[in-house]
Amino acid sequence: MKIKPIVAGNWKMNKMPKEGQMFVETVINLVLDIQEVSVIFAPPFTGLVDIDVNTPFFKAAQNCHWEDKGAFTGEISAPMIKDCGVDFVILGHSERRHLFNESNRLINKKILASLKNGLNVIHCIGETLEDRNAGETVSVLEKQLTNGLKDVGSLEKLVIAYEPVWAIGTGVSASLEQIENTHKSIRNILSGLYDKKQNIAVLYGGSVNLDNAATLISADGVDGFLIGGASLDAENFASIIKIVENI
Ligand code: PGA
Repeated sequence: MKIKPIVAGNWKMNKMPKEGQMFVETVINLVLDIQEVSVIFAPPFTGLVDIDVNTPFFKAAQNCHWEDKGAFTGEISAPMIKDCGVDFVILGHSERRHLFNESNRLINKKILASLKNGLNVIHCIGETLEDRNAGETVSVLEKQLTNGLKDVGSLEKLVIAYEPVWAIGTGVSASLEQIENTHKSIRNILSGLYDKKQNIAVLYGGSVNLDNAATLISADGVDGFLIGGASLDAENFASIIKIVENI
């Protein structure tokens, strides 16, 4: 079965709730006739409630806690997110791993909690420049996938986003060759972990923009994008969606 491409916009800590709501309406109006692509908006938690979307548009949270409720000041749980009409949650983003010390073990707990609560998970993985230069890219990804997906029985509600840390927010995306090779490795790792070939979307993220989107989406094994900076401008984001729609 062919996987429907995904274009996801990770707003990070940007946009006020009203601004986000207007932004989503603008983007949707610019790409009204899309049929081939699923589009995911990931505002900060505060923006999730007011955004109202229908297929092929979806909402994603950028994080969640692993417990359903309790004394965890400042945290938001998977059931709370689900109750806001959210379909996806981004887990394991490089900024969460590096700025907030999230380990593969912790990410695994969040993934299991999200799946238990009926959310789809965008599981982000990626190597640092140090890892790549040391020839450790594949082993790092293998560890992130193996530990992150521990006790996850099926990949049915999973999307993988390959985001090399050195390409996030730097303006330098990975090359076509690096992306193709790494996506191939990711699929190999997944087929080692799961019995039968799983029909899972593997996205690329890291300095995707209007200029490189057409080239990057042509890479073998790339089923769409997770976009940070270039997802904040409605025209830009809509144009990238159309590029992916028309491949
Ligand atoms: P970027 O961010 O597109 O700004 O590089 C990607 C991400 O962090 O998901």
